[in-house]
Amino acid sequence: MRLSLRFIIPLVLALAGLAYAMVPLVDQLTLQWFMRDLDTRSTLISNTVQEPLADLVRAGNRTRIIRYFTGITRDERVYAMAFCASPQDKPVATLSLPKEIRCADLDKFAAPSEHLLTSDQGPLHVTVKPLEAEGVFLGRIAIVHDMSFIARRTEETKKYLFYFFVVLGAMVSFITVVIAQLSWRGWVQGMRALLRGEGLLRPSGRTDLPELRPIARDLRALIRDIEAEHRPRDEHQMAWTPATLRAILHGELRGQDVIVVSNREPYIHVRAGEIIAIHHPASGLVTAMEPIMRACSGTWIAHGSGSADREVVDRRDRIPVPPEKPAYQLRRVWLSAEEEAGYYYGFANEGLWPLCHIAHVRPTFRTSDWEYYVKANRIFAQAVEQESKSKDPIVLVQDYHLALLPRMIRDALPAATVITFWHIPWPNPEAFAICPWREELLDGLLGSSILGFHTQFHCNNFVDTVDRLLEARVDREMFNVSYRGKLTAVKRYPISIEWPPSPPLVAKAAERCKVEVRERHGLPRDQAIGVGVDRLDYTKGIEERFRAVERLLELQPQWIGKFTFVQIAAPSRSSIEQYQEYDARVRAMAERINKRFAAGGGYAPIVLKVEHHEPPEVYEYYRAANLCFVSSLHDGMNLVAKEFVSSRDDDRGVLVLSQFTGAARELPEAIIVNPYDTDQCAAALHMALSMSEDEQRDRMRLMRGLVGEFNVFRWAGRMLIDAAGMRRHGRLLERTAAADSLPTGTHRA
Ligand code: F6P
Repeated sequence: MRLSLRFIIPLVLALAGLAYAMVPLVDQLTLQWFMRDLDTRSTLISNTVQEPLADLVRAGNRTRIIRYFTGITRDERVYAMAFCASPQDKPVATLSLPKEIRCADLDKFAAPSEHLLTSDQGPLHVTVKPLEAEGVFLGRIAIVHDMSFIARRTEETKKYLFYFFVVLGAMVSFITVVIAQLSWRGWVQGMRALLRGEGLLRPSGRTDLPELRPIARDLRALIRDIEAEHRPRDEHQMAWTPATLRAILHGELRGQDVIVVSNREPYIHVRAGEIIAIHHPASGLVTAMEPIMRACSGTWIAHGSGSADREVVDRRDRIPVPPEKPAYQLRRVWLSAEEEAGYYYGFANEGLWPLCHIAHVRPTFRTSDWEYYVKANRIFAQAVEQESKSKDPIVLVQDYHLALLPRMIRDALPAATVITFWHIPWPNPEAFAICPWREELLDGLLGSSILGFHTQFHCNNFVDTVDRLLEARVDREMFNVSYRGKLTAVKRYPISIEWPPSPPLVAKAAERCKVEVRERHGLPRDQAIGVGVDRLDYTKGIEERFRAVERLLELQPQWIGKFTFVQIAAPSRSSIEQYQEYDARVRAMAERINKRFAAGGGYAPIVLKVEHHEPPEVYEYYRAANLCFVSSLHDGMNLVAKEFVSSRDDDRGVLVLSQFTGAARELPEAIIVNPYDTDQCAAALHMALSMSEDEQRDRMRLMRGLVGEFNVFRWAGRMLIDAAGMRRHGRLLERTAAADSLPTGTHRA
């Protein structure tokens, strides 16, 4: 509105000024029109009076001539009439004849331009016409018209003209403002679409707007420049450390607090009699996120699942962590046993987990589980609202437990930047479509600003799924999805681990680890050791791994008694039937194989340790081993592979890695295997055990180089840099929207 007035008022004033400037011109014109009119009238009168006046003149009757003239001057405009027989005579005239009109002076009114007489009576128009009868000149007639009406008319005309221009000005302004509004809106929406990467589309349809192309090019270049300016250094040249991450947060993101949300908490307080112990869960997610939070501070919201969790939090359910050197806040949310059973064990782990992993376990979907899943996501969403200190926090949503959370956050905090990371594989559209709540899950995830997966393959699967199941616009060039008026970027961020590893994890020399581990298990000093570290989960291929060990001993019996495989298996999701069955099968298989190769002696090729191990213990096994075997049947990334590499600062040890892990794409120097191919796996184990130290070193160095470079700080840093870029784009759009909304105050993005 203000913009319209700013535009209309000057325009109306300009037009009023124009009207004012035109008044003399209009005066002139109307005067000419009226003079011409009076000339015509005078000619008419003269023609009309010729005969009767000639008769009266011939009769010499002055009185009758005057009476005749007086009759004519009753017409309101004919002011006076006179007759002059010769220049020397006195005029025979009506009493109203001005004294300036004398018979001797009639010639001076001959020319049309000189018909105007300014007398004491006001402006008069004087026409002189000859009086003739039968070709004989009898004298001249002076016809005088009153011109005061012209002045009156001119005044009126001026007035109307002025009003006309004012109204015209208002109309022109109004039309111009309406057209400008419409085209500005179109332009702005076009620009917005461009900035969102939707191309040059008209808001109404899908037509190209050629007039925007050059502006779009400039704008994109400008944004690129700004981005380049803000990018601290070339990403590829940077050493990614906690300090780099902090620099991004404080520079790119202006000190914004980061909120992480996950189901699993990084520290679990467990009551053990009189004392409260702290557990670090066996979770790739926690392994990756914890160093990030230590670097960034902020708040981590997670389910308080430990038996003593409630005892240690403050009034607001918070506790500063890590316990030894607090760097961030852990905010716990509480779920009842039923909620946990439905949401975590049921929908997340009996439904989504097998749905997303090709491990040949059927997903189970129950309506009651779904209802708890929705409820639990809402509980997490409320916690996010409570913990955010601003309207636009950066929220990092983790994993498949919280697929509905991004949308809930978007609804509650529309300006938030929501980065969701899906830690497990995303299946193909056919597989995903069997979920009865597929649309709801996709809708929830598309509340994210950025949705990340470990591999491009999973990004492709997700985008294909959206394309198949939702009314959304998928841009495969930019790799984003436009849904419900918002854009979600779908990106690949291969997760990683802290680099260099935390010093306590590698404090004990590798040689010492070898000795101690062998002693612990009563093994000879030169015993070859293989290690597997997993949650006891059917996706991890532990049975396949044991089968490969068995086959190795069958095919290469020289390893009988010389090779021991230590499997660390953290109990996981034990209240789910399929996990209980898996646990039983794994134990039985280990027992069977051990029996088979015991040969009466104390040899057990497999040491199965189904118990929780703290990270330093796990690292001790990594460092003690000749090989690490990761045989997942399907795994988003698998951080055990990267942890093993990071633990081997002695450049020794061989990684045998399933081709069905995300890690296999990054670590080709590992021996890559198909865990379903038992003979191949057995051959890989033999190859690993026989590998020369030089080859081990060469392979390990290459892998360490990669994990060091593509560490977890880079993983998080790239997401935060992308989020910062999005926020800049968002601010640019907001500014455009603000400019757009000024005239009407109604239009908002
Ligand atoms: O792979 C998905 C994931 O969330 C991992 O990050 C982690 O290793 C595992 O699942 C943890 O499972 P849970 O939290 O159920 O113990």
